[in-house]
Amino acid sequence: MARSSPAPRRGWRSPGTRALAAAATVAATAAVLVTAPGADAAASTLGAAAAQSGRYFGTAIAAGRLGDSAYTTIAAREFTMVTPENEMKPDATEPSQNQFSFSAGDQVYNWAISHGAQVRGHTLAWHSQQPGWMQSMGGSALRSAMINHIQKVMAHYQGKLAYWDVVNEAFNEDGSRRSSNLQSTGNDWIEVAFKTARAADPSTKLCYNDYNIDNWNYAKTQGVYNMVRDFKSRGVPIDCVGLQGHFTGGSSVPSSLQTTISGFAALGVDVALTEVDVTNASTSQYAALTQACMNVARCVGITVWGVRDSDSWRSSESPLLFDGNGNKKAAYNSVLNVLNSGSGTPTTTPTNPTTTPTTPTTPTTPGGGSCTAALSAGQSWSDRYNLTVSVSGASSWTVTMTVPSPARISATWNINATWPSSQVLLATPNGNGNNWGVTIQHNGNWNWPTVRCSTS
Ligand code: XIL
Repeated sequence: MARSSPAPRRGWRSPGTRALAAAATVAATAAVLVTAPGADAAASTLGAAAAQSGRYFGTAIAAGRLGDSAYTTIAAREFTMVTPENEMKPDATEPSQNQFSFSAGDQVYNWAISHGAQVRGHTLAWHSQQPGWMQSMGGSALRSAMINHIQKVMAHYQGKLAYWDVVNEAFNEDGSRRSSNLQSTGNDWIEVAFKTARAADPSTKLCYNDYNIDNWNYAKTQGVYNMVRDFKSRGVPIDCVGLQGHFTGGSSVPSSLQTTISGFAALGVDVALTEVDVTNASTSQYAALTQACMNVARCVGITVWGVRDSDSWRSSESPLLFDGNGNKKAAYNSVLNVLNSGSGTPTTTPTNPTTTPTTPTTPTTPGGGSCTAALSAGQSWSDRYNLTVSVSGASSWTVTMTVPSPARISATWNINATWPSSQVLLATPNGNGNNWGVTIQHNGNWNWPTVRCSTS
């Protein structure tokens, strides 16, 4: 499976460069009658194609289907991000109050990681799929229970997930707040959920996720937009917005989708299409939604809500990219072609740059054991930057990375991460070699972290 992470951006080349490479391949073919895969060979899986622009391509995975090898073969081959379809929802993780159950969630997590995919947690606070004990709760007891739920579930997955859907589906179609037992605890329940989540695991990106927020001119979209803008202006922690993208059950892809994605992105959050399905898998709608994401630098990836049509929660609409026999559908090719086309905004362009990174003022520090961790600059954006880390001298190592306050690490890839404190990351190999990386939210401090490599 191709490997990618949500933050790094790489591999975009200008159309001119691609044309030259294509011309070179044609020339070589004519000369020797052999077509070698050129530097620009199109990627042949969704994950690899999306990775060319630093994006992921994901799917929902159901623990109950992991014994089906036809299912896991496709999923392992094609997808680089996994969302547990039901296994990390409140009814699954806290079936009795304060008694947590992570076996199904862990099953999906472990499957994803062992196949090179990252994981999006879904979801912590939602009016639906609450355990029975929570459904009958309200007021301050429910507020405390929500906080406890977020703390305990996030502690279990601390340092492991790329994203968490902290709050799901909290708005009505008219842009007002949906009434629910959570809403009845006070209008501030959403920001309390996000603040609790940031404190519980500073390493993961915190998302608001909803459906019918794809059309820019729709009241619900504007309701969510106003909340995110308000959160950003008041410093309530939020890193991302998920547009579910259920273009089923009577909905279709709106022409304003790209405007909506870039509108949210301009607030300084990552945007993703998180649960995509399309009635009868319309090739034009699948191509349009993929292109809309490709055209916005901060659209970090697309997740479809299941593998084969037979796996879909709306299977009667045949809305996915593989048919019930696991064959690629026409929509698969339309998505793959758009991902491979490379058209769209060069994702190396920082969004709304306000300042540029300084050269490192902190030297790379060789560590206590016989290993060294070398840092190098990756992509940067207005609010954050990537560093890649290359460890040499040992295959079994621990790198201690300390970020200067108030900067903090918001994502890691290709390591097992633990967090002695919000400023300190302990990194150990996850079985995929010695090159890994971090995304750092600089919060005004562009100085690089210190690193220390140890073999003991
Ligand atoms: C759906 C699952 O696909 C079904 O298996 C389950 O019975 C109900 O939930 N919005 C969401 C997802 O955020 O969690 C929902 O998933 C689909 C709608």
